[in-house]
Amino acid sequence: PYLLIFVAVASYLLGSIPFGLVIAKAMGLGDLRQIGSGNIGATNVLRTGSKSAALATLLLDAGKGGIAVLLARFFVGEDAAQLAGLAAFIGHIFPVWLNFNGGKGVATYLGTLLVLSFFAGLAACLTWLAFALAFRISSLAALAAAALMPLWLHFMGLPSYVMLAALLGVLIWMRHAGNIRRILNGTEKKIQLKKS
Ligand code: G3P
Repeated sequence: PYLLIFVAVASYLLGSIPFGLVIAKAMGLGDLRQIGSGNIGATNVLRTGSKSAALATLLLDAGKGGIAVLLARFFVGEDAAQLAGLAAFIGHIFPVWLNFNGGKGVATYLGTLLVLSFFAGLAACLTWLAFALAFRISSLAALAAAALMPLWLHFMGLPSYVMLAALLGVLIWMRHAGNIRRILNGTEKKIQLKKS
């Protein structure tokens, strides 16, 4: 049990690094908390107008979930890998450094899933992409992918990940309460790749 506690704490700490906030500050793009949705994720970094900063945030936030899973799987085993993914995700949305008020977990969720099962992660990315292309709303794409993932996992014959995906899906929906409100009243911002 000590080993699993160590895995959980180390993964939580890795997940709690707010890369978006750090990158935006380092690149002189301002304080993400005061920009757009106020979120620390890649979508909001994109609203600063820097695509490279947004991409770096996406890759690093996804990467920390993936690395946590990879290390836990390599050194401990499959159960620890799922625990590491969960802990890194919790670290991202409830980081101790930001008074437990972090991001919405989408990139970290994708990174975690990609390493747990590449095809499951790919399915999540493609679902996100399909909804993003259709509606041009990042949060809507994330909500759809999070909701559909347990179903996809079931049909892909990966039942051991269904519980984790369902749990993370519920957390993602909870963290998007404000987005859901904006989607419903039609004020949610669309993804903008070109500067207006
Ligand atoms: O990954 C978070 C995304 O789904 C929504 O971000 O900044 O529009 O609240 P944001």
